[in-house]
Amino acid sequence: MNLSQFGTKFTRESGILQLMDDLGEALASGDDWLMLGGGNPARIPEVEARFRARMNAMLTSAFELENLIGSYDSPKGNRELIEATASLLRQQYGWDVGPENIALTNGSQTSFFYLFNLLGGISPKGEHKKILLPITPEYIGYSDAGIEDNVFVSRRPEIEQIGDDLFKYHVDFDALEVTPDIAAICVSRPTNPTSNVLTKDELSRLSTMAGEKGIPLIIDNAYGTPFPNVMFMDAEPIWNENIILTMSLSKLGLPGVRTGIVIAHEEVVAAVAALNAIVSLAPGSFGAALTRDMIRSGEVVRLSRDVIRPFYESKCEQALAWIREELDGLRYRVHKPEGTFFFWLWFEGLPISSRELYHRLKERRVLVVPGNYFFPGLDEEWPHQHECIRLNYSQKDEDVRKGITILAEELKKLT
Ligand SMILES: Cc1ncc(COP(=O)(O)O)c(C=O)c1O
Repeated sequence: MNLSQFGTKFTRESGILQLMDDLGEALASGDDWLMLGGGNPARIPEVEARFRARMNAMLTSAFELENLIGSYDSPKGNRELIEATASLLRQQYGWDVGPENIALTNGSQTSFFYLFNLLGGISPKGEHKKILLPITPEYIGYSDAGIEDNVFVSRRPEIEQIGDDLFKYHVDFDALEVTPDIAAICVSRPTNPTSNVLTKDELSRLSTMAGEKGIPLIIDNAYGTPFPNVMFMDAEPIWNENIILTMSLSKLGLPGVRTGIVIAHEEVVAAVAALNAIVSLAPGSFGAALTRDMIRSGEVVRLSRDVIRPFYESKCEQALAWIREELDGLRYRVHKPEGTFFFWLWFEGLPISSRELYHRLKERRVLVVPGNYFFPGLDEEWPHQHECIRLNYSQKDEDVRKGITILAEELKKLT
């Protein structure tokens, strides 16, 4: 096959492809894998029951299913979900958000592909515009999403060591300069992979820096409030017309329905809708049909606060206790768990690379993600990049426990 530049770039090995392939391969080859790698949310019975009830109601209604599957939504996405989301955000946070500020996509991953390429890449004047990630590690899914090469530029964090076995990253504002080639600043909060929740102060400083340069600040709120609220502290997002806030139904328990939500200035929303039309005519309608009633009524906020957050918080506490028990005596630190369902583990001075550790664990049918993929745009060599792994602790308790035991065994072989 004679591929275009786009074809060559988008078919070569990428971290996200390896991650999704690993998931698919493991799922297809039986159930004896310990799946601590991918970003699948947990199966929470109470949440699943709620979606099943909604689906049943759709099926028993005389026309709802047919209305859902029988027509395209507009390129901006399902109107009812957009209205419900706007009204929820107005009520919860008092933001001046209307339906004109919201567009849907086929998942946040798609939202990021659009946003990074709408803003980053070659400008009409021929300049190479970049997306600034002010703090890495940052989400693996961003890494390869630029149509042009080298769309990202990023910075190392400051590291605060906490107690004997925790640490926390902070934005290093002294090293952060928004140069004229920067088209947007982007952060995930809570951050995948580290679980870091940037402080309100960090967020407002970034928002001010972006505002001063007349560029948007993109905040990826895939795990944040008002839903799914996979956070272990109270931290609200911020929004103004200079902020592009992205949300998703995935971590609510619906990764399969592929629905992303972009909240932004009307101009950005129109651009997202234009891309939807070209790439997929319209975003899928199924996620909207499953969730719009619970978003309209605010039930989604209660479900997130009273079921989803406590579920992950207790998983986190349990898994951290296992880490402390199994890795006792080894040189490790865990990023302070503040949200998401990942541990970001740092093995300072690890004698092999985290990629080699990943392969050794894979041999033993344990899937994690090696840390080196989470530093998009960081040009400098930094040993830290090869000393970390991401571990998803949201799966079955016995799998998480067993995976941690095997991890400890492999680490002990290296001492
Ligand atoms: C921080 C972050 N952003 C975006 C995504 C993409 O989510 P989706 O495309 O399922 O909405 C994920 C998925 O894991 C994520 O962790």
